[in-house]
Amino acid sequence: MSKQRLSVVVTRRLPEVVETRLSELFDVRLRDDDTPMTRSELSDAIKTCDVLVPTLTDVIDNALIAQAGDRLKLIANYGAGVDHIDMATARQNGVLVSNTPGVLTDDTADMTMALILAVTRRMPEGMAQMQRGEWTGWAPNALLGGRISGRRLGILGMGRIGQAVARRAAAFGMQIHYHNRKRLRPEIESELQATYWESLDQMVARMDVLSINCPHTPSTFHLMNARRLKLMKPDAVLVNTSRGEVVDENALTRMLRSGDIKGAGLDVYEHGVEINPRLRELSNVVLLPHMGSATLEGRVEMGEKVIINIKTFNDGHRPPDQVVPAML
Ligand code: DGY
Repeated sequence: MSKQRLSVVVTRRLPEVVETRLSELFDVRLRDDDTPMTRSELSDAIKTCDVLVPTLTDVIDNALIAQAGDRLKLIANYGAGVDHIDMATARQNGVLVSNTPGVLTDDTADMTMALILAVTRRMPEGMAQMQRGEWTGWAPNALLGGRISGRRLGILGMGRIGQAVARRAAAFGMQIHYHNRKRLRPEIESELQATYWESLDQMVARMDVLSINCPHTPSTFHLMNARRLKLMKPDAVLVNTSRGEVVDENALTRMLRSGDIKGAGLDVYEHGVEINPRLRELSNVVLLPHMGSATLEGRVEMGEKVIINIKTFNDGHRPPDQVVPAML
């Protein structure tokens, strides 16, 4: 007798090749348009599927998980961050959660470097001048930025992405410093030539560039609060490709406006698309629409990870990328 196929709901449009493979393997419900599901669509979905495949745009909170009933067994998140999922309630309800780590690492680290360079070398100002047709030719003092080689980069969060940033930044001649919940093993530290700072305050006060690479959890919310931002050197730059909630966006905006921090490169925002409007007015910031991991290759690999997690679960094993709260 053939085994009944798992019922899988995918909340957003995914690359076609991923949707096709999902349809071959499972009894899958896909989206027709690429808008996030409404709360009531999510609620319907969660009651009627074995596996939900959400993205970071879906808030899977305790009230929603509580509506799931007995059917839902796995939330196979399409993405690495799981801060939009109430992990504790999922666990209490016996629902496993998996994610897609590793395949976004290089793309996000590349974008971190792009932001560091864009801010320190004033690329948006140069682009704006060209787009307005205002360029009058080369001049010795025009748009002088700073050289990143020799500068101190402080990485807040030295997981996979933080380490990938460290490797790239070292190749650009930057000096690597980091703060992390756990100190790296000596061999990794020495391979990365990275200096560990137990005190985040002390590290922040001495860096030329600060890169946020830690996940958003209750303990990292506003880790860069107004008090810590004030410790930064006035000529320092902050780059965030992780989660907006780690930085107090209003405090950062105030300090950028007053010149107490030289510049910022942001790919993520504290309140999602509701960006502090004052940030958009500043010429010393580069703002991107959460596209750090946005490569076609990465999105397909994320889909492949989702499929492997669901398939492994369907075969009666733990999904290889099961997220356990201790990992966060
Ligand atoms: C993730 O997967 O959590 C990333 O933020 C998406 O870019």
